Amino acid sequence: MKIALGADHGGFELKEQIRRLLDSLGHEVIDAGCYSTESVDYPEFASKVCGLIVDGEVERGILVCGTGIGMSMAANRVQGIRAALCHEIFTATMSREHNDSNVLCMGGRVIGLSLAQEMVKAWIDTPFAGGRHSRRISMFDPGHKG
Ligand code: RB5
Repeated sequence: MKIALGADHGGFELKEQIRRLLDSLGHEVIDAGCYSTESVDYPEFASKVCGLIVDGEVERGILVCGTGIGMSMAANRVQGIRAALCHEIFTATMSREHNDSNVLCMGGRVIGLSLAQEMVKAWIDTPFAGGRHSRRISMFDPGHKG
């Protein structure tokens, strides 16, 4: 799968680890930055990753900031983006099955590496269930193709 990654300084370290995980799993990764722990503004990276999704360059994106909150707020302002802020495996999985999330947001200062890795794997592997969930998504995202 083609996946874009983005982070601010609060999510940089976890984003680096996630890139290594995705590489090892054979996914094609576009790393939209940031590229160090120097302080930056998270909306810039949310915008880059979401732009790649709506332009069809990648299928999905993963955004990491300190809490994941700012990234999820910024990402969900973009038409066609369904960003899910998750801290554990159940919601990461359900965000795919019921909400067809195309962006996973996580807090680099909230969750540890092994949990994040398991969440990412579950999120990538879980298909959208469709059916009644498609109807519900089309009520707020008319362009959704489910
Ligand atoms: C940066 O200090 C922090 O505010 C940011 O990483 C994020 O947590 C915002 O939601």
